Amino acid sequence: MTLKYINAVISDVSNDNSLPVLDGNLGPSAVDIQTLYSRHSLLAFDPGFRSTASCKSAITFVDGDNGVLLYRGYPIEELADSSNFIEVAYLLMRGELPDAKSLKEFQDLLHQHNLLHEQIMTFYRGFRRDAHPMAIMVGVVGALSAFYHDVMDISDADSRYLAAVRLIGKMPMIAAASYTYSIGRPQRYPNNKLDYASNFLQMMFGSPVMEYTVDPVLARAFDVILILHADHEQNASTSTVRLAASSGANPFACIAAGIASLWGPAHGGANEAVLKMLNDIGTVENIPKAVTRAKDKNDSFRLMGFGHRIYKNFDPRSRVIQEQAKKVLAHLGKDDPMLEIAIRLEEIAIKDEYFIERKLYPNVDFYSGIMLRAMGFPVNMFTAVFALARTAGWVSHWLELQEESHGIDRPRQLYVGKPLRHYPAKK
Ligand code: SDX
Repeated sequence: MTLKYINAVISDVSNDNSLPVLDGNLGPSAVDIQTLYSRHSLLAFDPGFRSTASCKSAITFVDGDNGVLLYRGYPIEELADSSNFIEVAYLLMRGELPDAKSLKEFQDLLHQHNLLHEQIMTFYRGFRRDAHPMAIMVGVVGALSAFYHDVMDISDADSRYLAAVRLIGKMPMIAAASYTYSIGRPQRYPNNKLDYASNFLQMMFGSPVMEYTVDPVLARAFDVILILHADHEQNASTSTVRLAASSGANPFACIAAGIASLWGPAHGGANEAVLKMLNDIGTVENIPKAVTRAKDKNDSFRLMGFGHRIYKNFDPRSRVIQEQAKKVLAHLGKDDPMLEIAIRLEEIAIKDEYFIERKLYPNVDFYSGIMLRAMGFPVNMFTAVFALARTAGWVSHWLELQEESHGIDRPRQLYVGKPLRHYPAKK
């Protein structure tokens, strides 16, 4: 197959080889190839979507070369420093920071919708006690579509907003229950006197038979983790939600699809994989061997928590999380050898030609597990926490997609299978 350039190929088949170029407000422009097939019977080939803008979006902007992450134009560092998760969720969904009245109304609405229907709690009983929390969350969130399917009118903006609020409101109890079920502890209910992060921590770690006092330092650190994981433009799980939503599917089912995609170790499942990797490395002395393995093409071992499809510089979130991890460990008076191994591993890797050449840096998952483990989260709950936070981004993209109408997403393919052939005649 000879390499041809678009204008050369197009001029072969038509005298108009122009393709419009669309400019965004930030970031790269995009060649609009929507008519490439209809006008020129040509497809664009881009497996993995490395050069493909799947949609227009105004929610989040990532500049991977410069390590920039903006939620509705606000830098992630400023939001992590000065905002809180509920305000960020409102910002992502509505496009502007709320005033005090709007924020209170939003918080009250979430409080009205943070309880799970008692029948939903029976779904948990269908899982083995050792079921992975992400398996439970996929199932339970998908099951919510059976509870709200008939009362939801996707064509109505208020009904769509209520569905989004229900998902953000109920996710803390769904996530906490996927853990308490596994240890056989009855699930505590939300306490509407608490903020979102504190409420989740009391449902996660509190016993139903005694008072639970949330540590404000840990609640704030957890709120920052939620802010940092809330959205990240068209990542794999968000694109999964958008693709499912494009068929008009029930939003609870769409978010369940996003949870399934996030679970993968190349995506949100990496935070769990990082802890397992650091555990396997075990000591600072073993780091060089791990780095050698990560560079070996014949070894499937990779440095989990390193590298990113978009960031070819530091992931701005990993810096903030490293600081939060240090604060939490100091506050708890804990000394986690994993943190020392992680910091040392980063120091060694980012000076290594292999990682420099490939622009591999620590990503959001590299330090988050260390902090969550120090707070008492079991390793298999790390990605469930990621899903809890990312629900804000997923529902924001779901809402945004409903406003545009490019119809169902239906990628094409480059067919490399057998040409037409016929079934052998019966002998
Ligand atoms: C998240 O998309 C998002 O925005 C995701 C996310 C979000 O907020 O939603 O940011 C969250 O998913 C973060 C990423 C978490 N995943 C991991 O930490 C898993 C480890 N990382 C790799 O699997 C990998 O870096 C990816 C999947 C994250 C990105 O892979 P790419 O962009 O497809 O890079 P690639 O596979 O094409 O690799 C390029 C080169 C290859 O070497 P060569 O073939 O060129 O010789 O870099 C190497 C890879 O082998 N490489 C690594 C590596 N990651 C890439 N080598 C060792 N260790 C690694 N971690």
